[in-house]
Amino acid sequence: MSAVIKESDIFIRPMSNDDISSIINIENHAYDFPWSQTIFHDCLHAGYSSWIIEYDEIVTGYGIMQISSDESHILNLCVHPDYQSIGLGKQLLKHFLNLAEAHNINRIFLEARPTNFKAIKLYYNMGFNEIGRRRNYYPTKIGREDAVVLAKTLLIEDS
Ligand SMILES: CC(C)(COP(=O)(O)OP(=O)(O)OC[C@H]1O[C@@H](n2cnc3c(N)ncnc32)[C@H](O)[C@@H]1OP(=O)(O)O)[C@@H](O)C(=O)NCCC(=O)NCCS
Repeated sequence: MSAVIKESDIFIRPMSNDDISSIINIENHAYDFPWSQTIFHDCLHAGYSSWIIEYDEIVTGYGIMQISSDESHILNLCVHPDYQSIGLGKQLLKHFLNLAEAHNINRIFLEARPTNFKAIKLYYNMGFNEIGRRRNYYPTKIGREDAVVLAKTLLIEDS
């Protein structure tokens, strides 16, 4: 892919059940341990905030965020490997931050593998900080790996 993208060619829209076959294709290419189709159906059924990013009218990525009263948790954020590193992941993350602000969310959380340098750099650049680790959270090809827990505070409460 060209490193130059036109923002006008990016379109972020709600996910539907009809997107799930495209999503599974991306998921299987992007992760060693992909989510199943059932998990995506369950997320939609549960009403989680679920979005598709299209680039040039092609489904290139997606994200899912669980919103509770004053916190939110990004459960998945993924861009097809052929379209990574051209700004799409950042656009989708910005979209989630805007949504969280619109819902008056205080804090937004997510987990990442400590070995997922690209994702961690994206999150740090967007104002997330590490707040802890979950031991042996993720499977790996040779065992288990910790999760880095990251959070970003959106609203500063009045003291
Ligand atoms: C992590 C992911 C969502 C980032 O999306 P992306 O579209 O590739 O990232 P972007 O092009 O928007 O870049 C955003 C930031 O990521 C970092 N980044 C992107 N590509 C990078 C690379 N090749 N090397 C290092 N950092 C990189 C940079 O900080 C970049 O910001 P900058 O351009 O202002 O420096 C995407 O790589 C992905 O889907 N990976 C596989 C699934 C995954 O691991 N999801 C995250 C689970 S926690």
